Amino acid sequence: MEKLSTRHLLGIKELSKADIELIFSTTDNFKEVINRPIKKVPSLRDITIANLFFENSTRTKLSFELAEKRLSADVINFSASASSVTKGETLIDTVNNILAMKVDMVVMRHPNPGAHAFLSKHIDATIINAGDGAHEHPTQALLDAFSMRHELGDLAGKKVVIIGDILHSRVALSNIYCLQKLGAKVMVCGPPTLIPKYISSLGVEVSYKLDEALEWCDAAMMLRIQLERQGGDEHSGVKFFPSLREYHNLYGLTMERINRLKNIPIILHPGPINRGVEISSEVADSEHSIILNQVENGVAIRMAVLYLLAPSSN
Ligand code: CP
Repeated sequence: MEKLSTRHLLGIKELSKADIELIFSTTDNFKEVINRPIKKVPSLRDITIANLFFENSTRTKLSFELAEKRLSADVINFSASASSVTKGETLIDTVNNILAMKVDMVVMRHPNPGAHAFLSKHIDATIINAGDGAHEHPTQALLDAFSMRHELGDLAGKKVVIIGDILHSRVALSNIYCLQKLGAKVMVCGPPTLIPKYISSLGVEVSYKLDEALEWCDAAMMLRIQLERQGGDEHSGVKFFPSLREYHNLYGLTMERINRLKNIPIILHPGPINRGVEISSEVADSEHSIILNQVENGVAIRMAVLYLLAPSSN
């Protein structure tokens, strides 16, 4: 059996192009499995996986749990808000107590960038990053690239623009690494206040004009404004631009904008969507949107990652 070059999935940065291709070919097999009448395989029958979510999630948490169950793993779920973390227990103590229950793999979402890399130096179990602050979200980038490849073919030379709150986005960083490893050209677009200065050093193009960026690309990935990371919310307002209404006028993807394009790109969004802010309902639900395909592919991508990293397969 072919193996990944890494023991954990901490980020896309650590993966080689061959690793990504192996994950995609394994995903193709699992996609076929989950479309059968009997969707379950015994691949991880003797493996126990803990899903540790120190931050909210809908898609990633449910997608990992379903992937684990489709592979016949034993699954335990942990949510920080309902745990003894609220009584002051440290991350290492929490995880070591869970591992004492004979857990083989840990899927973790944590608000602190680097939490997974730190944990990997202190525990024996395999660790999969389900999002660490504004750093990386590797399985999201893998499912995004897999979905784009399904629509566009080989991504080498294809043009992808990531639009919105780049500054606070782990999805943007993981996608930049993943798409570049696959040979795609990447542009980021958004208001100057939401595009970090260092981003050009990663080899991406930068545009502050949405219409120009849309003309350039084969695929457009819309990102949510991450108010929770900006110190604002829908009640207290925003800090990086004057108002959500103004943001929508300048950077919101609408049918009016799409209809002006010579070539209409495929539209992606990692979710959760804020309809009427970064994307209109009409676009999100249109034939150009592959948002729900992304969610469907996410289960097969996560099955592939779990299968390839499971201790029994190393
Ligand atoms: N895309 C994504 O990470 O969504 P959740 O926050 O719902 O998991």
